Amino acid sequence: TALLIAAVAFLVSLALFSRFRGRRGRGANLPPGPPAWPVLGNLPSLARNPHLQLTAWRGTYGDVFSVKMGLQDAVVVSGKDAIREALVKKAEHFSSRPDLFLMRRNKQQNGLVMSPYGDRWKILRRFSMSTLRSFGMGTGILEEKIDTECRHFCTELETKSGEPFDFTHLLHNAVSNIMCSMALGKRFEYGDPLFLRLMEISERGVELFVTAHVFNIYPVLRFFPVVRKQYKEWMDLSEESIECFMNFIAQHEDGERQEKARDVIEAFRAKLEDDPGSLPDDSLPHLLGDLFVAGMETTANTLRWGLLYLATHPDVQAKVQAELDRVVGRERPPAVSDKPDLPYTEATILEFQRVRTVVPLNLPHCTTADTTLLGYDIPAGTDVLVNLWSLHMDPAHWDNPDTFDPSRFLDDNGQLQLNDSFMPFSTGRRVCLGEQLAKMELFLFLTNMLQRFTFTLPEGARPNFDGILGVTLRPQPYELIATRRE
Ligand code: HEM
Repeated sequence: TALLIAAVAFLVSLALFSRFRGRRGRGANLPPGPPAWPVLGNLPSLARNPHLQLTAWRGTYGDVFSVKMGLQDAVVVSGKDAIREALVKKAEHFSSRPDLFLMRRNKQQNGLVMSPYGDRWKILRRFSMSTLRSFGMGTGILEEKIDTECRHFCTELETKSGEPFDFTHLLHNAVSNIMCSMALGKRFEYGDPLFLRLMEISERGVELFVTAHVFNIYPVLRFFPVVRKQYKEWMDLSEESIECFMNFIAQHEDGERQEKARDVIEAFRAKLEDDPGSLPDDSLPHLLGDLFVAGMETTANTLRWGLLYLATHPDVQAKVQAELDRVVGRERPPAVSDKPDLPYTEATILEFQRVRTVVPLNLPHCTTADTTLLGYDIPAGTDVLVNLWSLHMDPAHWDNPDTFDPSRFLDDNGQLQLNDSFMPFSTGRRVCLGEQLAKMELFLFLTNMLQRFTFTLPEGARPNFDGILGVTLRPQPYELIATRRE
């Protein structure tokens, strides 16, 4: 009897969990999709390189199809028209985030990145946007902070010059420090123990991400002794990181109030002082954590991919250096105002972002209402995966998409030309909040590095262009030699 009750309960729970299941046969025009296993759904086919498998399925099932992530249905959106219809035209319906078990547990929805589409998200997004804008515009605070970090980074590179070296930690430290300086108002020495711990937490978080996501799909697994340890480690890490940010907030010295805030903590406090209750006051540590993680992994990995491509394409590297020598010279550091005169350099950065899309499946979205997409019915509460990888690798829009070729972003006069199938920062209401900041960082880091160094692979190294996918697609570990330019 117990077994029978358990089996019935299980089948009922399957029906309840599946948003699509209840609608099949009720005249709904649901998206097609690959056959799925009971309970596991399509997960066995998506365990390795899901972006490649989903791109292959697009060929069979079209621009809108469904997959089963365990018990949960998700819709996969590919191609610029379907992506624009969902994220721009029907933004009200497609701009929420899935209610993930782990995010609920560690209150990550109190921040910005995983917050459901609603008033709280709107308030935090507006505040963060206007704060970042105020740092960028007029004050030049952002460029100054990035410049300072580029200087420290290049000085550190000098000490490694001429020997094979894995840049991962150094790049992560430098990029994280920009976020620290912008969010917390202070940069850290690279050896600072607190900073090193913060880096350790975020790097371990990235490693654990895929395992941890299994608990979102099957929360019950956290009670199983074999994997309980990983669950506990994930929860402990997220608790420790929020504590870190709470300590930073407590230690932040405001001094006399400035006319313009110089960091996010200052801006948050000033806003609450001027307009009490205008921001959810429990959100600050989560918001700082979000900015730190969202800004670090993405930018550092784009630069890591970029260096790997430059080292394996010396002709491209030499062309960027020649353009830099002509426009900037060697006597002064490059500045953002040089950008319009450096089209080849700019095209090279865009090509890094296309050929290895660092957020290949975007961040997950979720529908807020019953809606339609390319004529298919999509129920409220459906998870939505936007396949940016397939967009950037679509042979209908890019010649030889696998080839690294910056000139595809230039017109016949060598001027920059954009392609509307290019969205590394996504689009619509949830478009990357840090897009402008990231573009400045990529530009200033790359130009500072190439002004001073040439990057090559050590003798006999075999570069690997297959990434490791967590939320971001990061390169396998590799070493390069940075040689000081004469
Ligand atoms: C969201 C890409 C750098 C902050 C996103 C999304 C993508 C993305 C694809 C998801 C958009 C969506 O859900 O539709 C990138 C790339 C970067 C980068 C490729 C660097 C090359 C940054 C930086 C920051 C940042 C430097 C720091 C301010 C955020 C935030 C969100 C976000 C806060 C969540 C926005 C929301 O949910 O409203 N980013 N990002 N990103 N990004 Fe970035």
